[in-house]
Amino acid sequence: MSILSGKRVLLGISAGIAAYKTVALVRLLIKQGADVKVIMTPAAKEFVTPLTLATISKNPVLSEFINTEEENPTWNNHVELGLWADLLLIAPATANTIAKMTSGQCDNLLLATYLSAKCPTYIAPAMDLDMYQHLSTSSNLEKLSSSGVAIIPAEEGELASGLVGYGRMAEPEHIVSYLTDHLLHVSPWFGKKVLITAGPTYEPIDPVRFIGNHSTGTMGYCLAEVAAQFGAEVILVSGPTHLVAKHPKIETLRVTTAEEMMAQVKNHYKKVDITICSAAVADYKPAAVSDIKLKKNDKPLELVLVRNPDILAWCGEQKKKQYLVGFALETHNALTYAKAKLQNKNCDLLVLNSLKDPGAGFGTTTNQVTLIDKHLSTFPLELNDKRIVALEICKFIINH
Ligand code: CTP
Repeated sequence: MSILSGKRVLLGISAGIAAYKTVALVRLLIKQGADVKVIMTPAAKEFVTPLTLATISKNPVLSEFINTEEENPTWNNHVELGLWADLLLIAPATANTIAKMTSGQCDNLLLATYLSAKCPTYIAPAMDLDMYQHLSTSSNLEKLSSSGVAIIPAEEGELASGLVGYGRMAEPEHIVSYLTDHLLHVSPWFGKKVLITAGPTYEPIDPVRFIGNHSTGTMGYCLAEVAAQFGAEVILVSGPTHLVAKHPKIETLRVTTAEEMMAQVKNHYKKVDITICSAAVADYKPAAVSDIKLKKNDKPLELVLVRNPDILAWCGEQKKKQYLVGFALETHNALTYAKAKLQNKNCDLLVLNSLKDPGAGFGTTTNQVTLIDKHLSTFPLELNDKRIVALEICKFIINH
């Protein structure tokens, strides 16, 4: 099955002669199982008709901010279009569109959609030889590339002007194979949904005090970042921490208590492909929370604690096709306890943190973990920055 199967591809067409090839391109994308919507710049309509593209894509073709053809004009919402898309492909991308994308101009629907889209963006440049070789074009392409836009290289051949050289838009077949190869290698989790719990939970005692732990959430936030870079849509259910996830594909849901974390996991669990429970969830909470601040006296204070829900265990019970990753933080008999946790909570992978290892655990920027798979084979990773450890964990999940 193609990685594009079931994916929503927004094809942006700007005004170059190569626009005529987009009819074949739409057909190929649909053959791969993609759902295709087309946006054209107003001038692109001179090169290929919206009617042809609407017929082939089986979706209305959009070009203007306001749809004036209807009796009651409607607004073509570029933000919604950007959010709809799993992938934005601009082909052909003319020198003019590339320059405007680079400088953030948005005087047409396609450019406004590009600016608001959060999905991976690909462009297939198409222009005449001299324009392609011009310093402004190459520096614009470099800037776009460094901001994360993937450039599908233009091809060599006869150009509309009669010149021969680089500048032709890549052939539709080449565009599609570039997309599929790139997605598989650079975004192996494209189209996947990943749920991650991170940070501590705070269990209130009264309006000012709580039971908590030393977790900072760093490991979970690093995992979220890597998963998003791999192309996944990430739901990060985070306990209290000062950390902020910046990647646009990470939706952070902030919670305080284990019960709140459980509720968010229950809301999202069914629709995700991979769940990683890295949060340091409090196993117990006070049986009763005082509405008013507790005042001290000379007698010992006794708190009655009751069990919190076990989020990872719940995920293990409910598991169908999801891949489930648990964490264990141990101070002694680490491997024995960790293997038991993996089995009791029906995990596919367990990440063991042994507090005995220097540089591992809470409050450090590094971590040293051992991965345990469901056959109970162990894979110790080297002490490393938590970002690298997160990368190794995600790569392990991909390879298994
Ligand atoms: N976990 C959870 N919900 C809880 C407790 C833990 O989801 N209420 C998850 C953690 O996110 C982690 C794993 O379970 O992935 C840790 O396993 P657990 O057996 O709960 O570890 P500890 O809480 O450390 O248990 P113990 O104190 O018995 O070692």
